[in-house]
Amino acid sequence: MKRNYLFFLLFITGILSVFTIIIPSYTELIQLNKKSDIRYLNGYNQYNKKCAFCHQQDGSGIKDYFPPLYNSDYLLKDKKVVAEVLIFGLMDTITVNGKTYSGIMHPVLGTDQDIADIFNYMYQEFGNNAQSITSLEISTIRQKGKEAKRLEIYK
Ligand code: HEC
Repeated sequence: MKRNYLFFLLFITGILSVFTIIIPSYTELIQLNKKSDIRYLNGYNQYNKKCAFCHQQDGSGIKDYFPPLYNSDYLLKDKKVVAEVLIFGLMDTITVNGKTYSGIMHPVLGTDQDIADIFNYMYQEFGNNAQSITSLEISTIRQKGKEAKRLEIYK
């Protein structure tokens, strides 16, 4: 009986140590991995250089002027449209989380890889479901947009 009790105790401490030691260090490892990932770091740096001024570092935006990126329902709709906003800019009236904005968003300057890194950073960090994009997809969307504009001119 005493032995059973001892085994039971060992069993419980075993389970507890999984929760207290292994799981936290695993999540820490993921965090560390993320922070040392060169694409993540580039996304972080580019975002803070090129977007945070208007959309704020935490993606909360500025009331009535700059829409939020944090928990933005606009980001959940169509990832291609969002990529187009970054590549070509936007001058429209849009609704984000029930509020309308009529501003100007300039095209983002940078390589296709920079834009992909910013896109992925934004989707990873701001509570939006983790969509991702590659630099090749950015380059395809850019090319198609250019062709569409060219065709429009010759209409
Ligand atoms: C000078 C201010 C400014 C900067 C800098 C800027 N934006 Fe914007 N952004 C806006 C405005 C204004 C709109 C709304 C445009 C409209 O009303 O047509 C917008 C709209 C958006 C949208 C769609 C709406 C939403 O909130 O979900 C996304 C996505 C976005 N910006 C991402 C970015 C990213 C990423 C960067 C940096 C690479 C960036 N913006 C830099 C002003 C800015």
